[in-house]
Amino acid sequence: DGELSLSRSMINSSDKIIRKGSSSVFQHAVEGWKINSSLVLEIRKNILRFLDAERDVSVIKSSFKPGDVIHYVLDRRRTLNISQDLHSLLPEVSPMKNRRFKTCAVVGNSGILLDSGCGKEIDGHDFVIRCNLAPVVEFAADVGTKSDFITMNPSVVQRAFGGFRKESDKEKFVRRLSMLNDSVLWIPAFMVKGGEKHVEWVNALILKNKLKVQTAYPSLRLIHAVRGYWLTNKVHIKRPSTGLLMYTLATRFCDEIHLYGFWPFPKDLHGKPVKYHYYDDLKYRYFSNSSPHRMPLEFKTLYVLHNRGALKLTTGTCI
Ligand code: CTP
Repeated sequence: DGELSLSRSMINSSDKIIRKGSSSVFQHAVEGWKINSSLVLEIRKNILRFLDAERDVSVIKSSFKPGDVIHYVLDRRRTLNISQDLHSLLPEVSPMKNRRFKTCAVVGNSGILLDSGCGKEIDGHDFVIRCNLAPVVEFAADVGTKSDFITMNPSVVQRAFGGFRKESDKEKFVRRLSMLNDSVLWIPAFMVKGGEKHVEWVNALILKNKLKVQTAYPSLRLIHAVRGYWLTNKVHIKRPSTGLLMYTLATRFCDEIHLYGFWPFPKDLHGKPVKYHYYDDLKYRYFSNSSPHRMPLEFKTLYVLHNRGALKLTTGTCI
């Protein structure tokens, strides 16, 4: 595994590059980028030792019966009842079974995407993964619109859809999901207590409006397996962010993975402010000690992998 291990010194040296803020260093790395197919295969093989994304991307109907009680993955003392609605929305088989793509885009939500002009390039990939139901229509030129797979933390209901307090919030939500057609909607419903009401409301709206989305709910072991993989590669991440989870899953399905919208820093390489999200006014919470994520460490890791041709990280413009 020598090939793969991301040593401290490699991560530290990329840290220096980022801190020094030399855009030419980074830009050059993007221009000269070439896929390293043997490294891609090796990473896929190593990740498969920890998880099989085809299976772990979602629990399936036959795993549970309505009324079953499960323990939250990151809060073992608390439990959740598998409701009738939730059970009826569990897929019969993995929505990613036998799906393979030449190129995929994983789109993070950083404000670095604004004015990037990356929309066309993103939409040109065979499979596009997005996070947290991020809006696309108003930002199409920079982020594209194609969404084959989209995640939704239960907190999104509160944050972006007013907790469904008004009828108009629900309508907005239903409109957003209708745009997805039969894409995969991935809801981490079993991670921590707190979002169960939101998940139930979402499930009820999907059923009531007969929305075509393919719902998926990550397996109980996914997050531990992903953490385990990165830990053995010397990347100490307690709670992988949605974006890192998506990259890790995508290695199973995609030969070439292109990342956009990954930039967990408040300034760009020229010192210009960068919004935390391209679409709202959320602040940089992860700098506080209470944040569970270590996005800057994740970013450095991805940067190292970019330089080795395992993935392509775009943080500039696409023109
Ligand atoms: N991301 C990034 N830089 C940012 C914002 C986001 O690199 N400034 C990436 C992260 O990998 C993140 C993904 O884009 O996981 C999606 O963004 P967001 O919806 O904020 O992600 P979550 O990890 O779900 O964040 P949270 O747990 O705070 O809801």
